[in-house]
Amino acid sequence: MKPYIIYNQSCTDMSPVASSSVDIGVASPPFNINSAYSIQPDRLPIQDHQELLQRCATEMYRVLIPGGIFVIEATDIAFSYGQITSLPGYLAKVCLGAGFGLIERHIGLVNYTGGYEKPERRANEDFITQGETGRSNTMHLLVFQKGVAGFDRVAGQILYYDYHPAHGHLCPFPKVLIDFILDRFFKPGQTVLDPFAGVQTLGAAVVRRGGKSIGFEVDPNHCRTAEHLLAEAARG
Ligand SMILES: C[S@@+](CC[C@H](N)C(=O)[O-])C[C@H]1O[C@@H](n2cnc3c(N)ncnc32)[C@H](O)[C@@H]1O
Repeated sequence: MKPYIIYNQSCTDMSPVASSSVDIGVASPPFNINSAYSIQPDRLPIQDHQELLQRCATEMYRVLIPGGIFVIEATDIAFSYGQITSLPGYLAKVCLGAGFGLIERHIGLVNYTGGYEKPERRANEDFITQGETGRSNTMHLLVFQKGVAGFDRVAGQILYYDYHPAHGHLCPFPKVLIDFILDRFFKPGQTVLDPFAGVQTLGAAVVRRGGKSIGFEVDPNHCRTAEHLLAEAARG
């Protein structure tokens, strides 16, 4: 049996995945900053974006084992429709609301090289997304746990990594980030689910480390690439 599966459907419905069957969830959700990483518009009305993340968090809570870990990476702000939103703020609200406790929070200092159609760049080359839609050179890595109440032991580190387009995707997970997450939480044999899987860079690393990978991704092109990368990882 293949150690991976990718569903070409929205993570708001994870019904193919049994309850309490996943060890770790890792998500880099759409940030609602009008990035071109998908056929899916990355500019939802704020209410719809919050509902997407809320439904994802609820499903993630259902599929995780008790004690399971849910890691989310998010920009510090999203600025669209003239509204500035603190993504870590409302992600924490949504995940705590779904029943998770927040156990760790790490900061990523990020450079972005290439990919955006009209990039604005500071002299120091920090990553700034398109002017109309938002800006960020800081990412937040929030770590939640199922079965832990509230804010249990929030600790964190500063991470440095670069984003650049690869495999036809605007912003696949950088290796530094994948290794940080898997070194910290993953053990061989475990199942890891990425609800916004993109080209499944994370899933491929999980398979290479002897785990099982489940992904949800709405864009069929990314799903095809993911299948290819996952198969390659499984061949070793
Ligand atoms: C920030 S990217 C994640 C990239 C991924 N970490 C990787 O390494 O390739 C967000 C992804 O979520 C996908 N997406 C957007 N809405 C979705 C939904 N409702 N369900 C599943 N995937 C979705 C987009 O197509 C995009 O590829």
